[in-house]
Amino acid sequence: MEAAPVVFDPEVDDNVDRSEMLSKTRRKMDRSPLDRRSGIPLYHQIEQRLLEQIQSGELEPGKPLPSIQQIAALMGVSQMTVRQAVRELSELGVIYSRQGKGTFISGIKLERDFRQVLSFTEETQARGATPSSKVLSFRIQPPSPEAMEALGLGESEKVFLLRRVRYGDSVPMAIESSCLPVRLCPGLMETFDPTTSLYDELAEQFGVQFMVTDEVVEVGKASAEDAHLLEIAPQSPVFLFTRVSYLENGTPAEHVKSVYRGDRYKVVNRLTRGSRELRNGPATTLQRI
Ligand code: GLP
Repeated sequence: MEAAPVVFDPEVDDNVDRSEMLSKTRRKMDRSPLDRRSGIPLYHQIEQRLLEQIQSGELEPGKPLPSIQQIAALMGVSQMTVRQAVRELSELGVIYSRQGKGTFISGIKLERDFRQVLSFTEETQARGATPSSKVLSFRIQPPSPEAMEALGLGESEKVFLLRRVRYGDSVPMAIESSCLPVRLCPGLMETFDPTTSLYDELAEQFGVQFMVTDEVVEVGKASAEDAHLLEIAPQSPVFLFTRVSYLENGTPAEHVKSVYRGDRYKVVNRLTRGSRELRNGPATTLQRI
């Protein structure tokens, strides 16, 4: 069943004082202006900036969000762009609209990385640890049948295969094998230092940004080789992740198989009922423990 679209009433109550929230949003924009050349859609950048302000408590629950017209004028973008950002925030549940009154900040808390496509580097840094990597292999080769199917590759297409042990504060946390079509980022072998962030490299050198990922998690036991690399006992419980990441136009562009230590991570699900979730499905985060 299709959920009814969220409707934003353009009529806002002019008696509601939005000036305080507007000046906070203006300060935020001065600190981190929109980057029009990054390839990241503007609505997404606006969504992220507002989300950061909501999550940090700078925009407080119960207070009104500046109006769509105000945000559009402040950020120098169309009202349509702002409306899309506002719709996304509403779908996350962090804001809500009231007929004839406008849009308000809700008290719903999000995990810091809830519903975001994070790289290992970002996720590790967000937890206050220092990421590093040991490269096991980095080469061009034909894809595995699984990767070929997941990425919709042609018969003769080659992929980059990057296999690394990922560390947080020098503790081995995971082994990741990432597979990317060569045509997506042809010079990767020459430009990329594989001990650093792959996602940063893809964004900066190739304008490639993964907007959505599908991830399947299974429980397994560490093989002798994986246990050795992760410095855990053979047969220890591990999470086995298979990730397919998609570009904004829906093209699958990354296939990743990962082994994460079961004693260092937990998988957290947020499950909700309601029309919003009919459209968006449940959200999951991987958290270090
Ligand atoms: C996460 C994902 C991987 C992705 C990696 C990139 O760990 N599970 O699929 O390849 O991030 O991380 P980084 O940009 O730090 O290299």
